[in-house]
Formats: sequence, structure tokens, C-alpha cells
Amino acid sequence: MSNSQPIGIFDSGVGGTSIWKEIHGLLPNEKTIYLADSKNAPYGEKPIEEIKSLSRKNTEKLLDMGAKIIVVACNTATTNAIKDLRNEYAIPFIGIEPAIKPAALNTKTKTIGILATRGTLTSTLFSQTSDFYARNINVVEVEGRGLVELIEAGELDSPQMRSLLLKLLEPFLVNKIDYLVLGCSHYPYLIPILEELLSKDVVIIDSGEAVARQTKSILNKNNLLRTDTTYQKPIPEFISNTDPKVLENLTEAVQNGYKVSYLDF
Ligand code: DGL
Repeated sequence: MSNSQPIGIFDSGVGGTSIWKEIHGLLPNEKTIYLADSKNAPYGEKPIEEIKSLSRKNTEKLLDMGAKIIVVACNTATTNAIKDLRNEYAIPFIGIEPAIKPAALNTKTKTIGILATRGTLTSTLFSQTSDFYARNINVVEVEGRGLVELIEAGELDSPQMRSLLLKLLEPFLVNKIDYLVLGCSHYPYLIPILEELLSKDVVIIDSGEAVARQTKSILNKNNLLRTDTTYQKPIPEFISNTDPKVLENLTEAVQNGYKVSYLDF
């Protein structure tokens, strides 16, 4: 394994680019390949076995492309499949999980909200984390059903998105949460509209920055941080198995000179 090999990142679709941005920001000398399995989005409503087999398929594609580490930029895939991936493949995996811990530690109202997919909220890993950190806290859980589909269609702030969010956010408003944990990598794209629709006192947390820090630390521990920085910075690559237009827009690929392509995987 050479440290000049790429960091592979996958998600059920375009949402994990919110995590990619943090990774690229922290590790600009690393080559990154992002795989958007938009054809199979959303994962959040699928049976566990299917989430596992899609995660294996994405992993193998990234391994074929030479990945030295894989970031599972999807809470649903992490909470349901990362254990198996770590058992089955020899390279390191970084996962993303809802940031319950900082919310539970800092809440003043002792009531926090979590917005995530059904797949994440019903996973064993999530309930273990929630039991561990938020035992004495009221955790208001809301399934963000329908949000991923709209984001995949590029609708970050459409009338449909607003009316869906007004409905989904109601339990958070009624219960007066002071922290909202975003438990899906698609949702950071909704932060501007969430800030507008929720009370000003609600702090919104996502896990992107923590995932980037963890990626750096694990690369470092395994002597896999890219050292040949004398060359031109590598061009990030984004691959989608549907029309890559939304992926291109969210990453501002044209302006930044990133490579975006379609591949049937
Ligand atoms: N972006 C994903 C997550 O973090 C998956 C959403 C979905 O495909 O349902 O959970």
C-alpha cells in the first residue's frame, strides 16, 4: 500500500459530499475519489442485508480504484454495515455516526433532537450510543423521510422541501430542543433552511469535521498520509451511477476544475 493512493469515499448519493468537503479542506494534498450510489438512494428505508450488500459493492469499486482507506460517508451504511466491512476487508474504514455525545453533554434543556433515516435510528449501533451518552436526556427522534429524495433531486430549498420540513420539525419545536443532531450526511445541505425554521437558540451539529479529523489521524497512524507534496495538488474525482448534474452542482465542480463522471456500478 502506498501513501499516494486515493482516499475512497462513498455514500448512498450526493449527501456525503458534505463530508468530502471537510476531508478535502483538512487534507488538500490527498487524492480523493467519491462514489455516489444515487441509483440506490435512499438506503435509509432498505433492509439491513441490502444496506450491507450495497456497502460491499461500493467498497469493492473503491478498492478496484486503488483506495488506501475508505470513508463511509453515510450514517445509514455506517450504523448497519461498517462492522462487517471491517471484518471482511483489510484496509481501514472510517464511519460517520450521529454526534449524540456533544449534544447530550452540552444541552441545558436536557432535550435534544435527532434527525436521521429510519435505518440509522433503528440500528443497534445507534441505540447503543444513544443509551450510553443520552441515558438521562430526552432524545426526540425524527425520521427524515422524503428529505434524501428531494436533496438527490437538487431541491435544497424548494416549496416541497419547506413544507416537508415544517411537518418534520414540529416535534422538535413542541419539545423545545436546544440541540439538533443531523444524523444523515445529506442534511448539512439543509442547515441554512433549518436555521431559519427552528428557534435561534437551537444549536445544529453534524459530524463532518470529526470524520475528517479521524480520517487524518488513522492515515497518520498507518503511515498513509500522502507525503509527495512537491507535485501538483491532485484533482478530486466524483463518480455517480445516475445523471451527475446534482453532484456537479453541489461540489461546484466546474468552477473548481474537479472531475465528475458517470459510471454504471
Ligand atoms: N446520506 C445517508 C446517511 O447519512 C443516507 C441517506 C439514505 O440514503 O437514506 O444516512
